[in-house]
Amino acid sequence: MNLKDLYINFFVSKGHKQIPSAPVVPENDNTVLFNTAGMQPLVPYLMGKKHPYGKRLCDYQKCVRTNDLDEVGDSYHHTFFEMLGNWSLGDYFKKEAINWSFEFLTKVLNIPVERLAVTYFAGNEIAPLDTETRDLWLSLGINEKHMVSTKEDNWWPNLELPGLCGPDTEMFYWRSDDPIPEVFDTNDSRWVEIWNDVFMQYNHKEDGSMETLKHKNVDTGMGVERVTAILEGKNDNYESSIWSDIIKEIESISGKNYYGNEKSMRIIADHIRTAVFISADPAGIKPSNVGQGYILRRLIRRAIRYAKKLDIDINSNWEERIAIKIMDQYETYYSEIKENRDTVLEVLRLEKNKFAHTLEKGLREFNKVSDSDIDGITAFHLYDTYGFPIELTEELAKEKNIKVDRQGYEEYFKKHQELSRTTSAGQFKGGLGGSGEIETRYHTATHLLNAALKKVLGEDSKQRGSNITSERMRFDFTCDHKLTPEELKDTEDLVNKWIKDDLPVTVKEMQKEDAIKSGAECEFADRYPDVVTVYSIGDVSKEICRGPHVKHTGEIGHFHITKEESSSAGIRRIKAVIDDNKKGE
Ligand code: SER
Repeated sequence: MNLKDLYINFFVSKGHKQIPSAPVVPENDNTVLFNTAGMQPLVPYLMGKKHPYGKRLCDYQKCVRTNDLDEVGDSYHHTFFEMLGNWSLGDYFKKEAINWSFEFLTKVLNIPVERLAVTYFAGNEIAPLDTETRDLWLSLGINEKHMVSTKEDNWWPNLELPGLCGPDTEMFYWRSDDPIPEVFDTNDSRWVEIWNDVFMQYNHKEDGSMETLKHKNVDTGMGVERVTAILEGKNDNYESSIWSDIIKEIESISGKNYYGNEKSMRIIADHIRTAVFISADPAGIKPSNVGQGYILRRLIRRAIRYAKKLDIDINSNWEERIAIKIMDQYETYYSEIKENRDTVLEVLRLEKNKFAHTLEKGLREFNKVSDSDIDGITAFHLYDTYGFPIELTEELAKEKNIKVDRQGYEEYFKKHQELSRTTSAGQFKGGLGGSGEIETRYHTATHLLNAALKKVLGEDSKQRGSNITSERMRFDFTCDHKLTPEELKDTEDLVNKWIKDDLPVTVKEMQKEDAIKSGAECEFADRYPDVVTVYSIGDVSKEICRGPHVKHTGEIGHFHITKEESSSAGIRRIKAVIDDNKKGE
């Protein structure tokens, strides 16, 4: 039995209900591109909302993390991974969580207790030294010398970030043939973290204060790829049984051995696997130049480039053969993989065909221009004519030890976007102006509505979700009453005033902590990567967001609220449309 089945069976036997994995593209949340952690889809329930499956839950959750996309190629980075988790929503707490973690590790996975070490919370002004956790581990037979308490590393996600948080206890495994040291040293990389039990009891508010949650939760997380490799005695994650069929297929297609070609094969295996999951997702993502679609495009194109490096004939059906191996492996766990096999293969094939015939020429062009650093217009030319995502040009440049003028590239990119927007507006007068553009305008309108509600209802009004189609926008926010006609009118007028003012929309990349300190708004901080983009609209709005947005609010058009209703307890919902015909009025 594999790790996922063992885990689920174990926690079901302890009274947990298995919940299905949420989609990789979050529903009703456009603040992040992908689900990045097992607990992410459970945030509302950890905050106190009643979960239909009860108070004890477990699952394996699909996660996609793309901030390290270009790091993939070493032995442990992945853009897609599965996270195992069990949760108590105000039910059991430390004693059961720790007992079950121990039982699963030592009785089900048969890890000898001597190979385990743990960390626990050392205490600070918010919460005391976690002696309860320490004593529980001691009573189970963990050696005192294999325990370390820390302040910073045992607070999840960390002490600065707002959102759900609490002290945690982390479990480590001695992954080495060297003798197990008597004393546990957290800096020794032969000790690898395998599991994290978070005792989630606080909501760290934006003003810095800690609110104690009404009920105490347990949130645990275990990475399937890492722990599978460890259990199978592999130091390279890609040597585990999760990857063996996929790597074998790449070896067979290329006629080359994994050893000596690790980097290329890992990149192909990882990127195709993630592309399979993104394109099988119910959200129906297709390769494009924005948002999730752009990530999908980068993954497929980077995989193609590495396939070429292995001398694979990229016009053959290599990508199909790899994707089939991946889908065979996952379809029993994820119904969308079973249902969307043809879609996945088509997405991969079409994108491959698009890129295959420009890649060769583009590489030749790159070689011609790469005697010295690459300027903005050349990088843009590689993107526009040969379909090289800027990150691909940067990677090629890095291999040649030259630089790319990213800023210059962005400027050409922006100019080009404005140009094509004007053209498409001309072509589709009064219509949708090309797909994606109308959604972009709605997206910026969402930020303005959020800011307007804060002015009209007070700063306590907080965004609780939003959803955009090309027809309308929907926006959920906290408010304890039905909005009066005056409040609705004031809100609508304020948004339209800001649109008329044609405020500039600017974007800046920042460290997440700095962004939050600078007052940028965000709904759930732990859902964002370490480096975030912050969008400012004049001085009326500043939010952490992935974009895309219009460049000036005047592009949005006339804003009109069509409906205001209750969404759930304490949450109101506004539906609104923008009227293209009144654009620029
Ligand atoms: N939220 C914790 C983590 O991501 C445990 O699931 O590690």
